[in-house]
Amino acid sequence: MESHIASPDLASEGKKRIEWTLKEMPVVARIAERFGQTKPLQGLRIGACLHVTAETAVLMIALKEGGAEIRLCASNPLSTQDEVAASLVQDYGIPVFAIRGEDRDTYYAHIQEVLQFRPHITMDDGADLVSSAHRLRGEILQGIIGGTEETTTGVIRLRSLARSKELAYPVIAVNDADTKHMFDNRYGTGQSTIEAILRVTHFLLAGKRIVVVGYGWCGRGIAMRARGMGARVAVVEVDPVRALEALMDGYDVMSMSEAALWGEVFITATGNVSVIRGEHFIAMKDGVVLANAGHFNVEIDIQELEDLSVNKRAVKPLVEEYTLKNGKRIYLLGEGRLVNLACAEGHPSAVMDMSFANQALSVEYLKNNASKMEKDVFKVPPEIDREVAALKLTLLGVTLEKMTPRQEVYLSSWQEGT
Ligand code: ADE
Repeated sequence: MESHIASPDLASEGKKRIEWTLKEMPVVARIAERFGQTKPLQGLRIGACLHVTAETAVLMIALKEGGAEIRLCASNPLSTQDEVAASLVQDYGIPVFAIRGEDRDTYYAHIQEVLQFRPHITMDDGADLVSSAHRLRGEILQGIIGGTEETTTGVIRLRSLARSKELAYPVIAVNDADTKHMFDNRYGTGQSTIEAILRVTHFLLAGKRIVVVGYGWCGRGIAMRARGMGARVAVVEVDPVRALEALMDGYDVMSMSEAALWGEVFITATGNVSVIRGEHFIAMKDGVVLANAGHFNVEIDIQELEDLSVNKRAVKPLVEEYTLKNGKRIYLLGEGRLVNLACAEGHPSAVMDMSFANQALSVEYLKNNASKMEKDVFKVPPEIDREVAALKLTLLGVTLEKMTPRQEVYLSSWQEGT
């Protein structure tokens, strides 16, 4: 089988990791069971560009159970778990093109391998697969019937493609499902970002001055979890409503210039470019730590950091020390790539369970409905969102309250008032 992975010898370690993860993902397991019985994805080729983790492996196995043929590549050069990639190839017969630490050329060569497979469905995390397919055009693009997108940054890119009328097929924005962003972005990013920073720095968070840049779902989660560990948290935001929300949630809110003078650890989660840049590096205290929790490594202006530095060295795995011309030292985690996957294992499996349940059900929906859909970006159908929430609750052993007939009538009428 065609594949490009670090080493097939890692498969047995990867298999144990996938099996451990599987028991934390009961919703996807339940869907896989149904897929196995009814084979709703029979005949479908799926090209997936996702972080190659044990959670992704569980999703890939479910799709294969459903009858799909799959090829998988990485959505970030530094997030691949090589042992998982090996097990997918060796134990589950799923071709993978991903090696942790691959360079940019290899990263894009792997995306090409997935596109050469002529997928009917693209499954993306960040929209690199979709944008590569659109650059390639031709037969490959024409053969694609639909796609799914996992993350905020990818959805923003796809909406821009749709606005310019260039999007060639319908895409479901999995990120926008309530059962995705309210949990994965908030609790998943919140916990795993803090975990990643602690893994590589071994810091005590109590009393630490942490600056969270961006107060979207991810920023909210990071700020909440940092405060939960006793850190002093400040938020930097450009949107007045979100800034006000952060203030009333009890955080200090300040501009990036003010935060640069105050903070000890800086975490970006904006989806935007150069939110921490030269003017801020120069103002920072000696010894500060910078981490990025956004999808791309553009939020911290690494080029400007390099230009302002007289020396750079690795002080521990995934921690680089930059010495500035003014003598101060700045520490960058995981090359400024998304820290939770570069320096730890990404979001916990239990939260990926909901995100990937949405992915699996959205693919099934596209198989049945893509031909009737416009070339646009769509929300996950609400019935899928509700099904994922209901299944998760059931599998957690939680019972939902039911409305009485009288309550149903009351809520659907206008006559009853004071
Ligand atoms: N994105 C964030 N965390 C992830 C994980 N554990 N697996 C796949 N994609 C992710």
